[in-house]
Amino acid sequence: MFPEHRPRRLRGTAALRRLVSETTVRPRHLILPMFVADGLAEPRPISSMPGVVQHTRDSLRKAAVDAVQAGVGGLMLFGVPRTHDPQGSGATDPEGVLNVALADLRAELGDDTVVMADTCLDEFTDHGHCGVLDAEGRVDNDATLRRYAEMAVAQAEAGAHVLGPSGMMDGQVGTIRQALDQAGHTDVGILAYSAKYASAFYGPFREAVGSQLAGDRKSYQQDPANAREALREIELDLAEGADAIMVKPALSYLDVLADAAELSTVPVAAYQVSGEYAMIEAAVANGWLERERTVVEVLTSLRRAGADMVLTYWAADAARWLG
Ligand code: PBG
Repeated sequence: MFPEHRPRRLRGTAALRRLVSETTVRPRHLILPMFVADGLAEPRPISSMPGVVQHTRDSLRKAAVDAVQAGVGGLMLFGVPRTHDPQGSGATDPEGVLNVALADLRAELGDDTVVMADTCLDEFTDHGHCGVLDAEGRVDNDATLRRYAEMAVAQAEAGAHVLGPSGMMDGQVGTIRQALDQAGHTDVGILAYSAKYASAFYGPFREAVGSQLAGDRKSYQQDPANAREALREIELDLAEGADAIMVKPALSYLDVLADAAELSTVPVAAYQVSGEYAMIEAAVANGWLERERTVVEVLTSLRRAGADMVLTYWAADAARWLG
């Protein structure tokens, strides 16, 4: 027994624990992903994500104002169009659901929050891939970049403060940066989904956006077995002008997140994805986990591993819990 070695001394009272607590999670660290669907009369629940809905334009505005009042740091918007085609035309149409909803949010919220948009084609294509296909049915990287450039400009014109290219095409950050600058949108930022893995945890998202995908995304998203590749992707995105980078999913990629935080010269985000949400909600529904304690513990872990900000479907709830 060595009486001088008593780490428990610092855990004895709530005041001591508060004094030595290293990691904070504040509402401003949290970004709420939201879905807006074309042609709905009322919000439609997403069964695999209890508590999350596809919004109408109206309910989106209200939920966004509530989230901002709760203190969230930003909103990330996904669009669910009524019709799909091979090019994902709805993504670049100024009257497309995502673009009109972005304009709604800016009209409602101005600069009170950071309005972000998912810059990716998968919600809009009839084959469900994140890009356009070549004659052999493979995702055509460079043809997709041309579509991303158009989509980025449409989203900037609609009023997005920050774009989130999530398709993992090579060169997407540089292409989007150049297109934005040429169109005069030098102030619009890029939150690059730099290290995005081909993950089973995106399962419930397919329902959330009514995805048409038949195959998988392994030819463009990363292999969960690889960590080094994430560092290469991050370096490229930084060189291409990313204003912030992201690791996705979050909870089973804490090592990648910690490496990213060490390497990055810009803020680092972690995306706690649909399956991570569903997993905890399912356990809560069974009475097996306590929602608030569990969610705050995971968010704290993501911050401890190095995330400056976290995209989470609990953002508004957690902002209220954390006050
Ligand atoms: C692609 C995109 C996906 C998610 C965010 N952006 C789906 C995918 O890559 O298959 C998943 C988010 C989640 O699961 O919560 N536009």
